[in-house]
Amino acid sequence: MRDAVRDLIDNAMKSARAPEPFTARAPSNIALSKYWGKRDRARNLPLNSSLSISLGTWGSETRVAPSEAGDQVRLNGHPLAAGSAFARKALAFADLFRGQNDIPLLIDSHNTIPTAAGLASSASGFAALTQALSGAFGLALDKAEMSRIARLGSGSATRSLWHGFVRWERGTAEDGHDSHGVPLDLAWPAFRIAIIEVDTAPKPWSSRDGMNHTVDTSPLFAGWPAQAEADCTAIETAIAGRDMATLGPLVEANALMMHATMQAARPAVTYLTGESWAVLARLQAARAEGLAAYATMDAGPNVKLIFEAAHQADVDRLFPGARMIAPFDPDHTDFRNKN
Ligand code: ADP
Ligand code: DP6
Repeated sequence: MRDAVRDLIDNAMKSARAPEPFTARAPSNIALSKYWGKRDRARNLPLNSSLSISLGTWGSETRVAPSEAGDQVRLNGHPLAAGSAFARKALAFADLFRGQNDIPLLIDSHNTIPTAAGLASSASGFAALTQALSGAFGLALDKAEMSRIARLGSGSATRSLWHGFVRWERGTAEDGHDSHGVPLDLAWPAFRIAIIEVDTAPKPWSSRDGMNHTVDTSPLFAGWPAQAEADCTAIETAIAGRDMATLGPLVEANALMMHATMQAARPAVTYLTGESWAVLARLQAARAEGLAAYATMDAGPNVKLIFEAAHQADVDRLFPGARMIAPFDPDHTDFRNKN
């Protein structure tokens, strides 16, 4: 079968220019309704739709430029060995664009988030790289098209082309042409996120391996796709109503169910640590006293809270040092691409 996304890139590359330096930024995102499980592993096609909030200035900035010294990949100012997994993945992604042509490139990326720690560096990384490659080759791709392309790098990157809330529609087509991000056309200025960093060291399982292993071995996984699809729709409705009292419990339940499917995998995939659970216990106690803040955790030990601005001071007191993000603050979402 022809591949819809590869065809899209091949067609766009017919009018490509020789690469010129181009820098692009993309925000990281946190799934409020999770993507966990693929129906097609090569194309990163999900079993269920998911919905995220982007993290403002937290993300990746990537510069792609022609290179006179062969392919080079740099991360946070340091050159990476050509054989490193990071460099190989980034260059394989660049190959989607340049094909068999000998076009040596420099890929120079900075993450403002810890890499591979469950804070979605893969999402912002591949979304920024897609836009930087597209810009470097002068392609006229729109964001929905770049979202499909970014998906080939990492599923969650599908949602990192936009700020604010983004729904990744699972789609039904075998070739994946209908599986891409769609931004929700609404702002919720009082919406806040707090990141409680428990441990930012690289995690023991990549999301990809943890996800595939859960699908392959967890007897609890069978119940996940339908529940996750229903959660995604209910979460979108709660967002539309700016209804935190409905949204928060749904978001927390969705995250805990995802972690339950992993816990039942054989052997178990465990990202949450004792400290993560201690944060959750402290949150639950504060909630019993009236704090309307709710937790979500991805494939790592760090805990993210969602709440409204009126509770920011209380969250700050409860978790000193938590990083506060106002995802609709125009000062934090100025991510115009620049040359
Ligand atoms: P995370 O929780 O940070 O997303 P993952 O294990 O899911 O962790 O993904 C980390 C991988 O994402 C890295 O090993 C690398 O392949 C890719 N990645 C991270 N940052 C970037 C970046 N800036 N540019 C390209 N790829 C990136
Ligand atoms: C728990 O998008 O990193 O963060 O598609 O294999 O690259 P690949 O996986 P990835 O998985 C993200 C998993 C998650 C949930 C989510 O972001 O929806």
